[in-house]
Amino acid sequence: MTDLMVTGGAGFIGSNFVRHVLEATDCSVVNLDLLTYAGNPASLTGLDPNRHHFIEGDICDAELVGRLFAEHRPSALVHFAAESHVDRSIDDPGAFIRTNVVGTQTLLDAALDFHQGGHPEFRFVHVSTDEVYGSLKAGEPAFTEQHRYAPNSPYAASKAAADHLARAWHRTYGLPVMITNCSNNYGPYQFPEKLIPLILINALEGERLPVYGDGQQRRDWLFVTDHCRAILRVLEAGTAGRVYNIGGNAEMANLDVVHLLCDLLDERVPASRPRRELIEYVTDRPGHDRRYAINAERIRAELGWTPSVDFSRGLAETVDWYLANRDWWQRIRDGSYRSERLGVSRGVGQKVAGAGG
Ligand SMILES: NC(=O)c1ccc[n+]([C@@H]2O[C@H](COP(=O)([O-])OP(=O)(O)OC[C@H]3O[C@@H](n4cnc5c(N)ncnc54)[C@H](O)[C@@H]3O)[C@@H](O)[C@H]2O)c1
Repeated sequence: MTDLMVTGGAGFIGSNFVRHVLEATDCSVVNLDLLTYAGNPASLTGLDPNRHHFIEGDICDAELVGRLFAEHRPSALVHFAAESHVDRSIDDPGAFIRTNVVGTQTLLDAALDFHQGGHPEFRFVHVSTDEVYGSLKAGEPAFTEQHRYAPNSPYAASKAAADHLARAWHRTYGLPVMITNCSNNYGPYQFPEKLIPLILINALEGERLPVYGDGQQRRDWLFVTDHCRAILRVLEAGTAGRVYNIGGNAEMANLDVVHLLCDLLDERVPASRPRRELIEYVTDRPGHDRRYAINAERIRAELGWTPSVDFSRGLAETVDWYLANRDWWQRIRDGSYRSERLGVSRGVGQKVAGAGG
């Protein structure tokens, strides 16, 4: 691998992946990101400008995507770009269909042209989620790669559709695609609308801690760097056409995660009263899945990957990162991150990201 193309690399997992690739390999990265509200150039500061090339643009822009393939001739594409927040998908499903489905098709088409145009070694990793499998009942076995698809939210349905396209482009056209379905990630640079950073920051600021329903929804948590390691492993050694489930073997009820966060903060930044008292139960999200759990045996047995950070250590590291990087999340909270560009080198396809958020 020499040049990797990454989409969505200004988002949470994508920015962690870019950082990981630059640290762990000799590869250069071409990073295509539209800088929607979820994309933040401040997550990419300090990267070597000779090895990281940021392109502000849309994965749905076929002309731009085709040009990037021609200019950079990547050995692989790792596709993270997506609308990713379930609550937003309930309010505005159209944006999810556009980016997650049409955008994925645009990338698959461009990748196929490139692959068939004299680049047989090219590989495509499509990054997806365990939410495509729907919800498990208590005691049911964890999702394997054979589990039937049963997406329940517009977000999950759009990701499921994209997974099907990725599979079809392999089966029909022979594009070397691998699909990864991962459980909930947490760690540095996660946008504060998601559970862990939202609770962490609200708790730090002494604000109410909204918990959906009874807080007993169960998720399997994986530290983001472990997800990045898994994707790199799939890229290097995965079998074309294969699906790999990725999980942290750390199933927790949301309420227990909130309690842990409160306790970690109370230890580090004592407040006048225990932060657990800030918890407020709010009306549950419609269609809210009760439980996800991942069986990651295939990627362990075939590619030798296992998670390296256990949940208590990863959560403590995450709390410490948010405490040490207040500037990063405060600029998101006050909206100023949308108008700042913080010296990320940019190339063709620029569009001015809209203000607000
Ligand atoms: N966060 C999780 O827990 C999790 C778990 C499993 C899988 N995933 C998948 O991993 C991927 C990344 O998730 P994340 O949490 O980092 O998401 P994120 O919302 O933090 O980042 C998404 C990025 O994609 C960019 N983007 C959105 N629309 C675009 C477009 N049309 N063209 C170019 N760029 C665009 C955004 O600007 C942003 O930088 C997604 O595909 C998601 O489905 C996430």
